[in-house]
Amino acid sequence: MASSAAGCVVIVGSGVIGRSWAMLFASGGFQVKLYDIEQQQIRNALENIRKEMKLLEQAGALKGSLSAEEQLSLISGCPNIQEAVEGAMHIQECVPEDLELKKKIFAQLDSIVDDRVILSSSTSCLMPSKLFAGLVHVKQCIVAHPVNPPYYIPLVELVPHPETAPTTVDRTHALMKKIGQCPMRVQKEVAGFVLNRLQYAIISEAWRLVEEGIVSPSDLDLVMSEGLGMRYAFIGPLETMHLNAEGMLSYCDRYSEGMKHVLKTFGPIPEFSRATAEKVNQDMCVKVPDDPEHLAARRQWRDECLMRLAKLKSQVQPQ
Ligand code: NAI
Repeated sequence: MASSAAGCVVIVGSGVIGRSWAMLFASGGFQVKLYDIEQQQIRNALENIRKEMKLLEQAGALKGSLSAEEQLSLISGCPNIQEAVEGAMHIQECVPEDLELKKKIFAQLDSIVDDRVILSSSTSCLMPSKLFAGLVHVKQCIVAHPVNPPYYIPLVELVPHPETAPTTVDRTHALMKKIGQCPMRVQKEVAGFVLNRLQYAIISEAWRLVEEGIVSPSDLDLVMSEGLGMRYAFIGPLETMHLNAEGMLSYCDRYSEGMKHVLKTFGPIPEFSRATAEKVNQDMCVKVPDDPEHLAARRQWRDECLMRLAKLKSQVQPQ
């Protein structure tokens, strides 16, 4: 394995997200050590990363300025966590979403790390105040939540513990930029952070509209893929408001009453009942049958679309 002037990053948990982080850090020239409780998972991850990187290189979509072989030479497996974290500048935890398991891992890391390394969790929804409570190195702890698939979707939500040092947030922000991701700061922890709060608001209304028989599941999805999603790949909901009138103030003058009128008609949190789930599933399965092969093929298609969209975005930005 090559050593790297950029520094060494440790990935704890070599599943779906751990593998993506490994590829991203290697693309930025970082040495990456993959640790997992299951040795076979490390072997699978290394094999899978090799395959992925070669395909990406062939498609001209490999990130960073190094070749696939150069990036692969930066990644290695390490079966011993103590050895893995020695000299590391950043540790990215990617074990399953289980508070007790993650707390155990962070307590273990807390007892073996120095005062410089960043301890970062990939958690989608566990609160930093719960995850990092009582750790000696709490100032060095942060959540860096990626979006699946992280290699194609650059956003990373940075969520600090109330005692996280501002330098930890700044260093993690700079590191994410260095590997080509797009970090954003969540200033105060909140359930679901920001991305999932927005996502759940959309899912919630989508479910109500389908349940009430207002729209079919596949037509509902069209509203996003052929409507809102077209602009949301480039501008957010607030800038949309700003552009859809003569600025934000004009938008609020013109449309806030109408928005409030509609918002008052929104229903309660859906129960996600089996009956509605089956109805939605039936419609979804017309396009994508829910067996592993069809789902995998559709995910691959999605990733190719995202790759092309990323290329397009890099051509049109920055304005
Ligand atoms: P996964 O199940 O694919 O991988 C978890 C890995 O952790 C497995 O390889 C497992 O062997 C390993 N592991 C279990 N216990 C361990 C231990 N004590 N020490 C070391 N390794 C251990 O999970 P996935 O999907 O990669 O998720 C990881 C984290 O990323 C979760 O917190 C999840 O919420 C978060 N996340 C997941 C996203 C997704 O769409 N899959 C998106 C964004 C964040």
